Amino acid sequence: MTPFSRVAVTGGAGYVGSALVPALVEAGYDVTVLDCFFYGDHVFDGLRGHPCLHPVRLDIRDERALTAALQGMEAVVHLACISNDPSFELDPRLGKSINYDAFAGVLRAVRANSVKRFIYASSSSVYGVKDQPDVREEDACEPLTDYSRYKWLCEQQLRDEGLGSCEWVILRPATVCGWAPRLRLDLTVNLLTIHALVNRVITVFGGTQLRPNLHIHDMVAAYRAMLEAPGDLVHGQTWNVGYQNRSVMELAELVRRQLGDPAARIEVRPTDDVRSYHINADRIRQAVGFAPRWTIEEAVQGLCEAYRDGKIPNPLTDPRYHNLNMMQQLLQQEELFVG
Ligand SMILES: NC(=O)c1ccc[n+]([C@@H]2O[C@H](COP(=O)([O-])OP(=O)(O)OC[C@H]3O[C@@H](n4cnc5c(N)ncnc54)[C@H](O)[C@@H]3O)[C@@H](O)[C@H]2O)c1
Repeated sequence: MTPFSRVAVTGGAGYVGSALVPALVEAGYDVTVLDCFFYGDHVFDGLRGHPCLHPVRLDIRDERALTAALQGMEAVVHLACISNDPSFELDPRLGKSINYDAFAGVLRAVRANSVKRFIYASSSSVYGVKDQPDVREEDACEPLTDYSRYKWLCEQQLRDEGLGSCEWVILRPATVCGWAPRLRLDLTVNLLTIHALVNRVITVFGGTQLRPNLHIHDMVAAYRAMLEAPGDLVHGQTWNVGYQNRSVMELAELVRRQLGDPAARIEVRPTDDVRSYHINADRIRQAVGFAPRWTIEEAVQGLCEAYRDGKIPNPLTDPRYHNLNMMQQLLQQEELFVG
């Protein structure tokens, strides 16, 4: 039995949300999705008309609308974001307005509605570059980019201000991989896999950087665990969530093996993206018993099946799969006002 039945998911029509929201609905939650739908509203076609799904087109920067939309919500999962470095840097003012400036209003809207639990999606990129083999929650955060820096500043704001009687928890997820209804192909494993499938060439930029990965099914399971765990276990906590740490070159080799296509070539190119981190996610396992179960191999397999089943049409050209391309298009259409 779930402790909260009415849950709002900001950014619920994005990559993670498009897997999380149907899973919550199927588990019996009543889910309100608060999203601008930058990447389309088709992601919930399979649930259209479901009495427990309530999609609301809303910009989280509109505090008044957000406060009204959160009325009656018992829990909020805050995913809405410009969610990678390149699309943030495309228009830093816009990125800051959504990823940081709006956060104070989100916290006020949560407080104003007596929400019982708030879950914030931070990122393991807050650690920046680290030499040590196991980066843990208490290690220093040295974010290298504005996207990561604002994630970290939001964390700090939440810790400093708290939310009154509302329990809160911060997750620092690894890079997510695997198929979802709103698919991102700009994330490492997904990108390597789609290039191997379409071009039979896997381009690796650098290669030695370590990347922690997490199957999208486990990402969903982690958010559910945060909704369902007793408050005394989760309140006020910050947790890494990741599974397999691999170098980008190891990921490329894994993809080639998984495709069973020895002719697929791996091409190495230089990069100035030096981000490298290796996270340890023991603490969430010890505290709430959450342990990832899905492998990177299974994520690659799922992507291959989806591609071969025709579920990923035009993977290299459709901007919906690539946050940067879609943001460029929306900015040209002036659809992203700065609040
Ligand atoms: N995907 C990953 O690998 C990963 C890893 C670590 C952390 N995260 C975090 O998890 C969250 C979800 O990531 P994702 O990959 O699903 O991102 P995404 O880009 O696919 O989805 C973000 C969603 O937020 C919505 N959105 C953006 N600005 C908005 C606004 N002003 N008002 C309302 N909605 C808005 C978009 O329309 C989109 O549906 C993000 O906060 C991201 O930083 C993701």
